[in-house]
Amino acid sequence: MDIKLILTKDEPFGELQLSAVNQKSPAYYTLKEVSKHFSYDSCWIIVWNRIYNVTDYLQQHPGGMEIILEFAGSDATSAFIDKGHSRVAVEILEDYYIGELTPEDRLYPDYSSP
Ligand code: HEM
Repeated sequence: MDIKLILTKDEPFGELQLSAVNQKSPAYYTLKEVSKHFSYDSCWIIVWNRIYNVTDYLQQHPGGMEIILEFAGSDATSAFIDKGHSRVAVEILEDYYIGELTPEDRLYPDYSSP
């Protein structure tokens, strides 16, 4: 995956990073904790080191719930980005934000650092 592409200012993920920076004291979760939420009853996903509880969105997803469930309890960054979701989709995703992945479990570097 070409990470630089995602970080250009016009990309929706630029805003996603900004809102991460603006968070005052986010909740941090380990990958182990996230991995417990791998089902229809409780579905958490990680996108860009941020954690989303998308359980209540599963039934509304235009691409079907199965595709999200494939990534339940794990990192869905490349799946979410590769599909080319719209800005609206990114905004909807933000409604389900619950916290940040603990730094030692991160798959991607922290772009808010210099
Ligand atoms: C986890 C990985 C995900 C994959 C692989 C995925 C895949 C897809 C696919 C294939 C479609 C196209 C459906 C169609 O046109 O028939 C779609 C549409 C959509 N998805 Fe996802 N999705 C994922 C997660 C999410 C999440 C977590 C959200 C929001 C909470 C979301 C929001 C949307 C929206 C709003 C659309 C409509 C088109 C758009 O605005 O981009 N998706 N998705």
